[in-house]
Amino acid sequence: MIKAAIFDLDGVIIDTAHYHYIAWKRLASEFAITLTPTHNELLKGVSRMRSLDIILSFGNIDLPLAHKEQLAEKKNKWFVEYIESIRPEEIFPGVIDLIRNLRKQKIKIGLASSSKNAPRVIELLGIAKDFDTLVDGTMITQSKPDPEIFLLAAHKLGIAPHECVVFEDAEAGVEAAVAAGMKCVGVGSVEQLGKANRVVARTGDFKASDLESL
Ligand code: G6P
Ligand code: MG
Repeated sequence: MIKAAIFDLDGVIIDTAHYHYIAWKRLASEFAITLTPTHNELLKGVSRMRSLDIILSFGNIDLPLAHKEQLAEKKNKWFVEYIESIRPEEIFPGVIDLIRNLRKQKIKIGLASSSKNAPRVIELLGIAKDFDTLVDGTMITQSKPDPEIFLLAAHKLGIAPHECVVFEDAEAGVEAAVAAGMKCVGVGSVEQLGKANRVVARTGDFKASDLESL
């Protein structure tokens, strides 16, 4: 029986995944690397530094750590600029209803985002009160596909992993949920997220009443 729902943020609650993409694309272009949406799928759910390593590997570029830290910082500055204008109206349709309907069914709600900017995004969206716990990139040592982030969220909610369902748009995130022993609803395409128990095109397509059939 499902007792908790754990939501990823970027690409599941709001389209901040797009801002990560355009910021990385801007940085990649400085190295004459053309980042495509296909490349970008590999970056979703992955930590900032790991994302940079993946991008540099596309150009066979090896840089000292101090330089990489500067580049990661630069990308983050752009990302932070982009997200400052986000508004609660940009929350994907049906997401708040889904969360509130799950809560009515006594399902605990967690957020598990690898992003260190997650607290700021949640603040801008004004939805902190909709979650029983928030776990972000500052609280973990291993990024998805490692299950650490979801196990920590479940622990903080006091719910066993097999009683949790994760909502994820990233392949690495679906893998992390499966590795954590949790159910998973993939948000995106079946080709990309086929390892999930169910795949929906948009988060709001999943209804609280669908939990029973997972
Ligand atoms: C999320 C996104 C990734 C991003 C990561 C780190 O998992 O899906 O695309 O790289 O968070 O985000 P940050 O805001 O800490 O750079
Ligand atoms: Mg995501």
